[in-house]
Amino acid sequence: MIIKNKPLLKWAGGKYSLNKIIEKYYINLKFDRYIEPFFGGGAVFFNIINKFNIEKRDLYINDANKDLIQLYKHIKSKSSSLIKEYEILLRNYKGEKDYYRMRDLYNSRDKNISSLTRSSLLMLLNKTCFNGLYRVNSKGEFNVPVGRYANASFIKPEQILQLSKVLPPNRNITSKDYKEVIIKRNDLVYFDPPYVPLNETSYFTDYSVKFGLEQQKNLADHFKLADSKGAYVIASNSNTKIVKDLYRGFKIIRIDASRNINSVASKRKKIKELLILGNRLK
Ligand SMILES: C[S@@+](CC[C@H](N)C(=O)[O-])C[C@H]1O[C@@H](n2cnc3c(N)ncnc32)[C@H](O)[C@@H]1O
Repeated sequence: MIIKNKPLLKWAGGKYSLNKIIEKYYINLKFDRYIEPFFGGGAVFFNIINKFNIEKRDLYINDANKDLIQLYKHIKSKSSSLIKEYEILLRNYKGEKDYYRMRDLYNSRDKNISSLTRSSLLMLLNKTCFNGLYRVNSKGEFNVPVGRYANASFIKPEQILQLSKVLPPNRNITSKDYKEVIIKRNDLVYFDPPYVPLNETSYFTDYSVKFGLEQQKNLADHFKLADSKGAYVIASNSNTKIVKDLYRGFKIIRIDASRNINSVASKRKKIKELLILGNRLK
């Protein structure tokens, strides 16, 4: 049986539902390595490994969220110990009261808690918190309330084992600023940063790291640099004038996106977002 790889975590801005559209722009390419500098739940990564036969050493994933990356590293190299820790937590999880107890434990940064326990807590909180968000307050504490699920879909140990087989080696799983990820000619790179907000009041707070206008400008410069080196570059961002201005001269495609992160189901409507293609993809 062929197992279809898919994201382990729910992640704000996850691209799972857009894979069919985005893949049109890379599916016929012959590239050397695949790099995802803003990994999150990695929806595009999973589509790529399902469709291409790439050596693991030619995959590279990065995200500024240290706890998220620590989890992927544990999945890669310590999957059985991680599963043991995770199963203990699962057995003790009965609902809302346990959610807040485990959230406190996650936030306590208690030296007695092993990094494996922290990674296990992250997997559990991600599937039980409100909408799978990862949001922290000014003290860096994860502050998402419990979600309302009739049946939360907990991660299964088999999923962890499967992911462990397909992730790149730990040296290619990093937590740094996207600018520090080295890009070469013939690399395929998908940039999926926190988006420019649709209006000033909705400034982005859904991730642990702030990404303001200055960072958006730097990212556009970085995209241009990678493009000029001869990499195949693709970026996603919001359908805003700022983004169109920042990427002027590149091919920009408007695509339909369903934003599943809205709390009110009736407000989860289709909105447009932008896909920016580098010069080698035109
Ligand atoms: C839109 S999400 C990526 C979603 C992902 N494509 C998916 O399908 O789940 C953006 C990610 O960028 C990360 N991030 C924010 N600032 C960053 C930076 N300066 N360098 C690298 N990653 C960053 C956040 O932690 C977040 O996980």
